[in-house]
Amino acid sequence: MVGFTSVLMLVLAFTLALPLQGYAKDINWSKIDSARVVLFYPGVTSWEFLTSDDHRLGGREIKQGKKDCRHCHLSKEGELDLKADEIAAGSVKMKRSHNPFEPEPLAGKKGVAQAKFQAAYDDEFLYLRVEWDSKGGGWNRKSPNNSSVPDRVSLQINKTESTFKKYGCFITCHNDLNTMPLSPQKRDVSAHPYYKSLDRSDVRLYANYAKASWDEKRNDKDLEKKLKEGGRIDLRAVEFEGGSAKALDGWIFDDRIWENKSADATGQWASGKYSAVFKARLKSKDAFDIQVNEGDVISVGIAIHEENTAKRKHYVSFPYAIGLGTNGDIKASRISN
Ligand code: HEC
Repeated sequence: MVGFTSVLMLVLAFTLALPLQGYAKDINWSKIDSARVVLFYPGVTSWEFLTSDDHRLGGREIKQGKKDCRHCHLSKEGELDLKADEIAAGSVKMKRSHNPFEPEPLAGKKGVAQAKFQAAYDDEFLYLRVEWDSKGGGWNRKSPNNSSVPDRVSLQINKTESTFKKYGCFITCHNDLNTMPLSPQKRDVSAHPYYKSLDRSDVRLYANYAKASWDEKRNDKDLEKKLKEGGRIDLRAVEFEGGSAKALDGWIFDDRIWENKSADATGQWASGKYSAVFKARLKSKDAFDIQVNEGDVISVGIAIHEENTAKRKHYVSFPYAIGLGTNGDIKASRISN
């Protein structure tokens, strides 16, 4: 028995010491439940549009914090009821303002994408896996250059914010972000004290409760409270280019920041599918990472960039609830270490 245990310990120690690629192979994902997630191309759909009269009934309901996106736009069977193909084609306008949903349509861009989403956890980590059909343009690119953009899957994750639970990533997408219709001039951004101190001229994702607009932060006391309550949104991504995957770790609050460390994640393209596995430490002590534990329900929004696109030209999902050993849209299965 002692012999067996020590062999086990050795195997365990070896597994832990393996480089990043090691762990994903240890989970038999074919045995883990999966959810089908619908993603769509949002064009310039912003939080400001969603909460406005331009969004008609939707605007009214969201302002009152009542129904969530899925209630009106996704059937129980998982069918999307939203003019995503028309948005991608640039052929649909907002009802009141008559502004286009996509002023710069990309030729042949489809409006909808599907992904498979799985979750599992053990004593130490939560594992999130995303898989989707793809030609793997980024992965198969032989010689990446300055103008090529890697393919990418990103996750926004939060546990406590009720608006994130209902509306997901959309609370971080604003009319004044870089490449959005009301994006301020670069010189105005770089002249602003905050952006000047960072030597930056681009406005990035921010949570609606952290800033009223790109140059108007909410007051420090409120922000501190929000942070204490878990208002920071964890952000993780895997980029695919030239046959390799790169993991990024970041967060969104009053700005979107990529940290100087990579996320614990792997990814690959094979047999016409991309897949990525993200690993989040349970009871993490890192204030910039999601605090998650058995029994928790967290919300996750997925974004996919493909075909040399960047910034807003991506597919996005509504938020999905993941329960660790408890019910959610997806119940993360417990696996042994
Ligand atoms: C109470 C129901 C309701 C909710 C909640 C709601 N919407 Fe809508 N949404 C609508 C209706 C109705 C329209 C069509 C407006 C029109 O054309 O008059 C619409 C239109 C849209 C459109 C324009 C494309 C289209 O199909 O007309 C987008 C994009 C959109 N909604 C996204 C969202 C997102 C994202 C959320 C959550 C943040 C959301 N909606 C929440 C009812 C809703």
